[in-house]
Amino acid sequence: MNNLLKGKRGIIFGALDERSIAWKVAERCHAEGASFTLSNAPVAMRMGEINKLAEKCNAQVIGADATSMEDLENLFKKSMDVLGGPLDFVLHSIGMSPNVRKGKVYTDTNYEFFQKTLDISALSLHKVLQTAWKLDALNEWGSVVGLTYIASQRTFPDYNDMAEAKAVLESIARSFGYHYGTRKKVRVNTISQSPTVTTAGSGVKGFGDFFSYANNMSPLGNAPAEDCANYCVAMFSDLTKYVTMQNLYHDGGFSNMGVNPKVLGV
Ligand SMILES: NC(=O)c1ccc[n+]([C@@H]2O[C@H](COP(=O)([O-])OP(=O)(O)OC[C@H]3O[C@@H](n4cnc5c(N)ncnc54)[C@H](O)[C@@H]3O)[C@@H](O)[C@H]2O)c1
Repeated sequence: MNNLLKGKRGIIFGALDERSIAWKVAERCHAEGASFTLSNAPVAMRMGEINKLAEKCNAQVIGADATSMEDLENLFKKSMDVLGGPLDFVLHSIGMSPNVRKGKVYTDTNYEFFQKTLDISALSLHKVLQTAWKLDALNEWGSVVGLTYIASQRTFPDYNDMAEAKAVLESIARSFGYHYGTRKKVRVNTISQSPTVTTAGSGVKGFGDFFSYANNMSPLGNAPAEDCANYCVAMFSDLTKYVTMQNLYHDGGFSNMGVNPKVLGV
């Protein structure tokens, strides 16, 4: 490895199990010399899988519901304590829609669920950034990355209210990117990842079909989670210091395709 993140401290949200994108990011950050804490919702941590990752990465696990300002404040304070100072990077890898979970179709949306979707999957990025801002918890040239999906920009009917959540998430990255950039040269970006086989991903109806559709449409094929982790490492490193307020496609070229003969079977 290249020690790209040597001396950098961070928080990685969202490692649920080995398939999670955040899991792969944690492994790669560790390999590149970073030290970090791992966080997830207390209910997700009960599965206990995250402890295996923590051991592997020599990281402490600190539970936080990413919709709770109190939990987030505690997480940032403890992380700075444990790691020995302000942070250089944060990965927001959080998504959940009760409407998707409960099989509600878009035209029969439950609005309480919808608000939860927005709070968990989008406003949580604002809450994370606002907590860091108020505690002055990020170093100059720090880097914050949120994971998103192209359904924010184009219609994928079964992605449901997560499409709106991702549109808000990407907008928050731009807006906070302005404020944090001006104040402290902190970068805020979203990475728009290919369909990936994970708990959140496979929860979307018809996932198998649109996984193979995207794979056939993309000249390079779907981007694997491990490569998404590499991209995150690059974004946390000093090699991308002037990249901010962007939605960065990591999708094998899918987002710029019109049609691929492979999809038509010709
Ligand atoms: N899998 C895909 O196809 C795909 C594609 C593009 C983007 N993404 C995005 O990548 C991110 C990570 O998802 P994944 O695919 O690795 O699935 P995942 O299910 O492994 O991760 C989602 C995580 O969100 C956490 N979470 C849910 N509610 C929370 C809360 N209240 N507080 C804190 N954490 C909470 C879950 O516990 C879980 O760890 C999500 O934002 C997802 O939308 C996924």
